[in-house]
Amino acid sequence: MAFMEIKDLHLYYETTRGPLRAVEGFSLSFQEEGKTLGIIGESGSGKTSLSLAIMRSIPGNVSTYQGSILFEGRDLMRLSAAEFRKDIRWKKISMVFQGAMNSFNPVIQVGRQVVERLLSGDGISPRKAGREAESLLETVGLSRDVAYRYPHELSGGMKQRAPIAMALYLKPRLIVLDEPTSALDVSIQAQIMNLLKQLKWNLGISMILITHDIALASDICDYIAVIHGAKLMEYGPAENILINPQGPYTQKLLASIPRLHGDTRPQFLSGAPCDLVSPPPGCRFQSRCPSVFEPCREKEPPWLEVAPAHWTGCWLYAK
Ligand SMILES: Nc1ncnc2c1ncn2[C@@H]1O[C@H](COP(=O)(O)OP(=O)(O)OP(=O)(O)O)[C@@H](O)[C@H]1O
Ligand SMILES: [Mg+2]
Repeated sequence: MAFMEIKDLHLYYETTRGPLRAVEGFSLSFQEEGKTLGIIGESGSGKTSLSLAIMRSIPGNVSTYQGSILFEGRDLMRLSAAEFRKDIRWKKISMVFQGAMNSFNPVIQVGRQVVERLLSGDGISPRKAGREAESLLETVGLSRDVAYRYPHELSGGMKQRAPIAMALYLKPRLIVLDEPTSALDVSIQAQIMNLLKQLKWNLGISMILITHDIALASDICDYIAVIHGAKLMEYGPAENILINPQGPYTQKLLASIPRLHGDTRPQFLSGAPCDLVSPPPGCRFQSRCPSVFEPCREKEPPWLEVAPAHWTGCWLYAK
């Protein structure tokens, strides 16, 4: 049985122009526990929406939320809200939200915020909560006294670690991290990445790492899913995807990364991602694709296994 299996997931937002399709028909099977799955794609491709769908933390203006997410033999989308809260959220699957550090309350000490959000109703004494917070902060490489500081007294990197501490509190099996290092300088980025590697290696925690930074994904991910225009474009072992990308979108995305060594110049990915309110029929990448041909404009590309466990949705590979 796969560790997590997402089948035909859809998430649409209601907007004044009509439904905006932020996640459309996303299916993927995350096989092994203890591994890291990277989700990469440009801004606005639906990465955050996908993570919110997995966590069932969907905003009020969602008009369509369908599909299934199998985890430990249960379909998370069929659980009642109360069951999901009691058994899954924070306990089995936790999340570090994009920009999580901005949601810290400026007038409450960090330690209290780290544990309090998760305690709701557990009746734990303030002293015990303080000790819990101290040791959690220590797990993420912060000194114990950070628990008694206020958010403004922390550096950007320290603030970024606190939500990770929070996510670890109930010893989940899977953590979904949405851009945990964006807006940080490279040395702090490296510290956070090292912390994530330790969690992976020492605690065997599975992770879904959402990022638009491919270098970061290549550093820690075992598998990579590439999304563009709300659709999954390519999926497979990280090495295959990064060294031998098959879909034109992934190839373009990787070619746009500047390299320090070598003669190849970075290529621009021209054009903009397609409009998610009225996407064109066929492939979502058609208007930007160098290899576009007739079927791409007419029908949805088939999802094909182009190398062992390496899948892509592209007409080029259809026989
Ligand atoms: N609550 C909402 N209501 C309407 N549209 C939304 C809402 N949240 C996101 N969107 C739209 O859904 C699409 C996907 O957004 P999402 O935040 O999932 O992208 P993303 O890949 O996480 O981008 P980024 O890399 O910038 O974080 C975008 O077009 C965005 O404008
Ligand atoms: Mg996002």
